Amino acid sequence: MALISKEYDQFVESDVHSLQKQDLAFTSRHYEHFIKYMGSKSKIMDFLLEGINSVYSGDRVCDLFAGSASLAGAIGDQIPIHSNDIQNYSAVLANTYLNAWDDGNIPSLEILKELSTQIFERNYKSLNIRNSYQNISDVQAFIELEKSEQKLIDRRFNRDWHLFVKYYSGTWWNIEQCLWIDAIREVAETHKNTPAYSVILSCLMYAMAYTSQGTGHFAQYRDAISESSMKDILIYRKRSVWDYFAKKYISATSQLSSVKPKYKHTVTALDFSECLDVFGSGTVYADPPYCFVHYSRFYHALETIALYDYPEIQIKKGKIVKGRYRENRHQSPFCIKTQVPSAFHTMFEKIKANGQSLVLSYSNTGMISIEEIGQLAEDILGSNYSLELLTTSHEHMTLGRVKDRHRDVKECLLLAKLG
Ligand SMILES: C[S@@+](CC[C@H](N)C(=O)[O-])C[C@H]1O[C@@H](n2cnc3c(N)ncnc32)[C@H](O)[C@@H]1O
Repeated sequence: MALISKEYDQFVESDVHSLQKQDLAFTSRHYEHFIKYMGSKSKIMDFLLEGINSVYSGDRVCDLFAGSASLAGAIGDQIPIHSNDIQNYSAVLANTYLNAWDDGNIPSLEILKELSTQIFERNYKSLNIRNSYQNISDVQAFIELEKSEQKLIDRRFNRDWHLFVKYYSGTWWNIEQCLWIDAIREVAETHKNTPAYSVILSCLMYAMAYTSQGTGHFAQYRDAISESSMKDILIYRKRSVWDYFAKKYISATSQLSSVKPKYKHTVTALDFSECLDVFGSGTVYADPPYCFVHYSRFYHALETIALYDYPEIQIKKGKIVKGRYRENRHQSPFCIKTQVPSAFHTMFEKIKANGQSLVLSYSNTGMISIEEIGQLAEDILGSNYSLELLTTSHEHMTLGRVKDRHRDVKECLLLAKLG
């Protein structure tokens, strides 16, 4: 249970500056999971909260690289949060955790089903689909079916709401699954600017993740190269987008409060350095990427369902790139070896300039060493801050004196407390 004092319970939005550390220690509430996310901190949330609790000295909390928005999920009921990530799908998830509530207008599953089914059936008929995955057992026939679906990328549609069927049929999903994704997305749009919007989209992201034939992300879809790989892909091809969506929607809406969230949360999709300036004073939790793979490549399909903007697709040597990535997708400096030190430099400079405290997640398998980050933090944050490392063995270590002791620790937290 969260140690929330009576005063804090009665907290009103304008009282944000009166929040004091002694008033609370954050503990994780139960929250719904929507996507499989590389680097998600949901499994080590208690460790992370231990770090935040030891640095927090009042005011708001910013999740600077929110990703699957797990921090908002865990403590969004206990503190005003600013949830930020450069990717827009993160904002959808954060809004579900922070700002969604049952305002009396959350559509029932039956209504959603009726509307989505009407759209699905109309569009299914117009495509005149002849082949189906249901009875296929021959690898060659399977490959041909996949290829014929992939060709829809060249088709011109004279109606809107055809993005997934055009771009992704025969890739991570088959044509019918794509028709369902488009149909549910179309219905979601009619709830824009209401609490239902982010809930419907989050549940749709869940359905996309669990019906996709990929390996949990959208970097590459698999090709059937043998009977056994075909059989495995078929398991996913036969999954119903609607059923996965429905299961999640029932669960997510049953947890919505009938009372409007009492805190004024902020959700943005900014670059981290801009967000630090917008956030102002408070405690920043920073969980930047640790490795060279760009999130914009792994999760481009989530970005596209959030934006639904018919993006230009990346072309190489005159051909559409197999992964069908968005052109001009974000390249993070934390994933480019030569840019990582200056990205951390910027982060620490902004933290200092804005008088913020910092909890930084990193790994000793990351793009630069913990020692280098610690040195940068010491050089930039200097004597205004007390610096510590918290390791997954729950050891607090002073930076500088114990440089070698975290060698076999994978995840650690750099704690930079102001004052
Ligand atoms: C390790 S993940 C964060 C995981 C998150 N803490 C969770 O529990 O799901 C890193 C995140 O940083 C985001 N990111 C990368 N570069 C960024 C930048 N320049 N500004 C803001 N966000 C960025 C990525 O989109 C990704 O979601």
